[in-house]
Amino acid sequence: MFITPEAQSIFAAYEARAAADEARMRELGPAGFAIRDEFLLPVGAEVGALLHALIMAKRPSRILELGTSYGYSTLFLADAAKAVGATVITMELADYKQAYAREQLEKAGLADVVDWRCGDAVAMVNADPGPFDLVLLDIWKELYTPCLEAVYPKLSDEAIIAADNMIYPEIAREDVRIYRAAVRAKADLQTMLLPIGSGIELSVKWEAGNAKL
Ligand SMILES: C[S@@+](CC[C@H](N)C(=O)[O-])C[C@H]1O[C@@H](n2cnc3c(N)ncnc32)[C@H](O)[C@@H]1O
Repeated sequence: MFITPEAQSIFAAYEARAAADEARMRELGPAGFAIRDEFLLPVGAEVGALLHALIMAKRPSRILELGTSYGYSTLFLADAAKAVGATVITMELADYKQAYAREQLEKAGLADVVDWRCGDAVAMVNADPGPFDLVLLDIWKELYTPCLEAVYPKLSDEAIIAADNMIYPEIAREDVRIYRAAVRAKADLQTMLLPIGSGIELSVKWEAGNAKL
């Protein structure tokens, strides 16, 4: 699925780390939440493949990722971005996570299509003039609605927002409910829940006034 063998081999290493993380999280149970920063918390291969395909088909110019973490999803975004001449702007609060992500993407030969931004995502989105053609929203869930409000005025026509964790983990359900209601309240966003990975809300900007599908 990845375009180069280098990217494919970095993906394999991420998958191995994700499997080890999962085993450890199962062992820790709810106590794992306290050390969530040690884990990749990846979107998973199915969602990664969806994002990759969307980029290949839609050919966006500016892709925004909110929540780099250790770079699992960035690898998918950057691999497709490189193929279509796009840039991935990725935002993350934890500098050590983003440094790891950058190192992995350098090894994959993809770091040059990524604009690495470290700090608070809402503030950094507010400081960016936009436009954003495709957005992956995957930071801490209480920030989904503030992120939506920051990103929304800067969406290009027919922009796409993919928001992760709509179904799992259960602990995020209330924040996710508020996010989905906020998305549905925008007259020009067509939106649907895709039951893949941890659940993706896929929202497409469309002319206001159209009946919701
Ligand atoms: C679920 S993880 C992202 C996983 C990543 N998209 C992937 O698939 O590999 C969420 C990330 O959001 C980051 N984060 C939390 N609050 C943030 C904020 N205010 N600004 C930027 N990043 C933030 C966390 O540090 C964490 O790494």
